[in-house]
Formats: sequence, C-alpha cells, structure tokens
Amino acid sequence: MADRLVTVFGGSGFIGRYLVKRLADAGDRVCVAVRDAENARFLKPMGDVGQIVPVSANILDDDSVRSAVRGADAVIFSVGVLYNRGRQTFQSIHVEGAERVAKAAVECGASRLVLVSALGADPSSESVYAVSKAEGEARVSAVFPSATVVRPGVVFGAEDQFFNRFAAIARLSPVLPIFGHGLLDAGSSRLQPVYVGDVADAIVKILDVVASEGGTYELGGPRTYSYKEIMKLICRQTGRQRLLAPIPFWAAKIKALFLELLPVPPLTRDQLALLSTDNVVADTALGFSNLGMTPSSVEAIVPRYLGRYRRRATRTPPMSS
Ligand SMILES: NC(=O)c1ccc[n+]([C@@H]2O[C@H](COP(=O)([O-])OP(=O)(O)OC[C@H]3O[C@@H](n4cnc5c(N)ncnc54)[C@H](OP(=O)(O)O)[C@@H]3O)[C@@H](O)[C@H]2O)c1
Repeated sequence: MADRLVTVFGGSGFIGRYLVKRLADAGDRVCVAVRDAENARFLKPMGDVGQIVPVSANILDDDSVRSAVRGADAVIFSVGVLYNRGRQTFQSIHVEGAERVAKAAVECGASRLVLVSALGADPSSESVYAVSKAEGEARVSAVFPSATVVRPGVVFGAEDQFFNRFAAIARLSPVLPIFGHGLLDAGSSRLQPVYVGDVADAIVKILDVVASEGGTYELGGPRTYSYKEIMKLICRQTGRQRLLAPIPFWAAKIKALFLELLPVPPLTRDQLALLSTDNVVADTALGFSNLGMTPSSVEAIVPRYLGRYRRRATRTPPMSS
C-alpha cells in the first residue's frame, strides 16, 4: 500500500464510489467523507482491511471538514445537488461547501485538490446550477490556485440517474418526452455523455500529473447526441417502441413548476434551462487526450445495464448500433 492518503468528499456517490475503488486499486489509503459514515460502509470491501475509512463529515460544517482532511495528501471534492432542498442548496454545496473544503485542504497542507464541477459551468448561464458551479470553481481556485477542475458531461454507468430514469419511463409509459422540439424552440441541443469509470480514471491520473495543476479538464465521451437520438437509443436497448413526443420548453417549464413541489423532483425549470443549450466539450479544452486516455462510448457500456428494462423474454442485449 502506498503512503498517500486521499480524502474523497462524496465518496459514496455515483462518481465517488468509482473513484474510491480506483484509488484503492492504486494502493492509496482513502478517507471517504459523507454526512453519515454508516451509509458508506459498503465501500470498505473495495480495499484491504483498513484501507478505506468512511467518516462522517458535512461540507456545511467547518470542524467536520477540517477533521476529514487531517493528514490528507490529496483531497477530491465530488459533492453536488440537482435542486435546492433545505440546507442543501446550489450556493451552500457548490460554492460555500467547495470553498470550505479548499480552505481546509490548504490548512492541512494537502498537495493536490481536485474539484468535480460540471460541463456547462458558466457565470452567465440561465441555469442557477451552472452559475453556482462556475462560482465554486472560481472560489476554489482563489483559495487553492493549483486545484484542478474536472467538468464531466452527463455521466453514464450502471447506477446513473439519466439513462436509467428514461429507461424506467419507457418501461411504463407509451410516450417519451423530447424537450425543446416544439413550437418556437430551435430544439436540438447536444449532449456528450461520459462513462463514470472514465471520469474516475481521469481524476486518479490527474493526481499523478503535475502538469494538470491549475488546469480545467472537460470530460465528454467520444461523440455527441441530440436528446432525441438518446431517447431512440434507450427505446432500442430496452426493446420498447415508444412515441417520442415533442414538448416545447415553455410547456415543459409549466410541468416542471408542479414537479418541483415533489420531495425529489424528477424535473426542474433549472434543469430545463441546462437542457436548452449544448452540453459539449469545448474544442480548446483540456480533456481525455491530454491524459493519454480514450473514453468509452455509450454504445459499448449502456446496453450492459439497460437490459434489465427489457421484457423478460427479450433480455439478451441487442448488438449496439
Ligand atoms: N452524475 C452526473 O451526471 C454528473 C454530471 C456532471 C457533474 N457531476 C458532478 O459530480 C459530482 C458528483 O456527482 P454524483 O452524481 O456522484 O453525486 P451523488 O451520487 O448525488 O453523490 C453525492 C455524494 O455527496 C455526499 N454528500 C451530499 N451532501 C453532502 C454534504 N452536505 N456533506 C458531505 N457529503 C455530502 C453524498 O453522501 P451523503 O448523502 O451520504 O452525505 C454522496 O456521497 C457533483 O459535483 C456533481 O455536480 C455529476
């Protein structure tokens, strides 16, 4: 086991758990900082005895953040929210929480800090999520100038909330919504989904690449898709023939207004604002190629886990196309 100790805030999350596994495989000691350490115990078998240690730490609280980074050589911030709820808001998590972790990382003498932000982070975006991500990046870089920012696109993998969610809808509903393809909408914004394992591999590599210090990496998969192309792919992989119903953004926003009242809203107006613009890697951005990596395609990975949404008799995944 190497001597390096890495603290991963959000280590039990979708991206975090792949990160923890890869860090453990690389021989690092990993401190997994989440609100309730009990909920991160499932990670322990990913490493040797004592190699992965979950601790309770809330990024909204100075003392618990300080104690979670004590002795850390590297710190990774992989916490995020998709909507505001109680104390968990875009501002408190993406901006203040990220800054708090950066300050603690400086105080404890960590040599590396990686902030997981998001593709589309932009101070002038219409989406409050995207604005908060940009502000978080700026605050972290001000406190810890050699911090590396990683901006993944929509992330896919067995536990994702994107392909799984629409596949679940396709199983139950005869209709799949295509937002932004309707009256008055230009309607063909593009996404560049990226595999969760590649995001985790890239972050672990970044920790060893001195040249990545202070850089911003945009991580997207090998190709871009329109929203409609993704819905068609989901229908194909789940063996469902579904009507793809164009819904203009204004109509979707009215629907989202009501959905936002649910405890876990499946759609918000802020997410629609994000969906209305391209979410793709900039031509000039640092990315996988600068780390010597070739990202996996949606077609290579998604059929492996969308098979569970097929009818029983047809669960052998089709050849990807
Ligand atoms: N998933 C994507 O498609 C995607 C795309 C682009 C960018 N990102 C970014 O990637 C990062 C990770 O996303 P994810 O999808 O892996 O998130 P996730 O699955 O929701 O996981 C969030 C993690 O943060 C922890 N957490 C939440 N609130 C916390 C708090 N106050 N203090 C300490 N820990 C807290 C959660 O554990 P507890 O709830 O147990 O505390 C969990 O471990 C986020 O910054 C997100 O914005 C994700």
